[in-house]
Amino acid sequence: METTVFTIEKFDIKLDTNWIGRNFLFIEELDSTNSFLLDKKNEISTDGTVLLAEKQNKGRGRFDRQWYSTKGQNLTFSILLTKTASFGRSINLLNLGSSVVVAQTIENLFQLKPELKWPNDVLINGKKISGILLESVSSGNKMIKLVVGIGVNVNQTIFQGQYNIQPTSIKHEYGQFIEREKLLAELLNNYEGMLYKLKSDPDSILKEWRKSCKLIGEKISVIQLEETKHGIFEDIDDEGYLLLKSKNGIEKISFGDVSVY
Ligand code: BTN
Repeated sequence: METTVFTIEKFDIKLDTNWIGRNFLFIEELDSTNSFLLDKKNEISTDGTVLLAEKQNKGRGRFDRQWYSTKGQNLTFSILLTKTASFGRSINLLNLGSSVVVAQTIENLFQLKPELKWPNDVLINGKKISGILLESVSSGNKMIKLVVGIGVNVNQTIFQGQYNIQPTSIKHEYGQFIEREKLLAELLNNYEGMLYKLKSDPDSILKEWRKSCKLIGEKISVIQLEETKHGIFEDIDDEGYLLLKSKNGIEKISFGDVSVY
């Protein structure tokens, strides 16, 4: 399997943002890019900082799952947001918006058709190509730091181990080796665009998310910590919550794993 060194110059030439990724940190190996940016002792506070790692030893996913990614083949990075203004109407929207950015970037660059699974999984042909983990630090009741961690399976084609959803990669679906530098720059260019939209036209994020979600209107199960709920995926509401319709009426869902029932 082809492993490459990430070349910062190649990435930099393609980066076309005002602030996202302008402070760019690259670390060969660490536990988790999210944990690193959240760790107070690292004193990283520049809004829009992007940290990319070639290898995470404790890459984390939602519900404390592990995020596995082979060194030198994929993208595992985190974006630090410190201006509350950029959080927009709700963190949920940012969560959905992040997955829209990943899906649209993959679609634009490789003409693949990613689908979104609530809240923020990006799938191709039912297999997971990207996962996103938002984490935050608050002081009192004010959120002071938000970290958006994104893992994209890019050039890895062999996946061993136990996965909640079967993984795939862009290379596997597209059939060609992918230049990670260009992909990351494009993801960040689009990410900044999405943050502007989150402020000026948050409804457009919901609209775009809905367009790429094929489960709306379908019978689904939502697995939560100790229970599983069944119903029809009615819609998402203005704040990005899932609306589940069952005989008890419409329930607003804030977390859980969604699957077709
Ligand atoms: C999920 O699908 O459950 C979310 C996976 C998020 C993985 C990324 S990789 C970069 C960042 N650092 C982490 O430890 N996790 C996120």
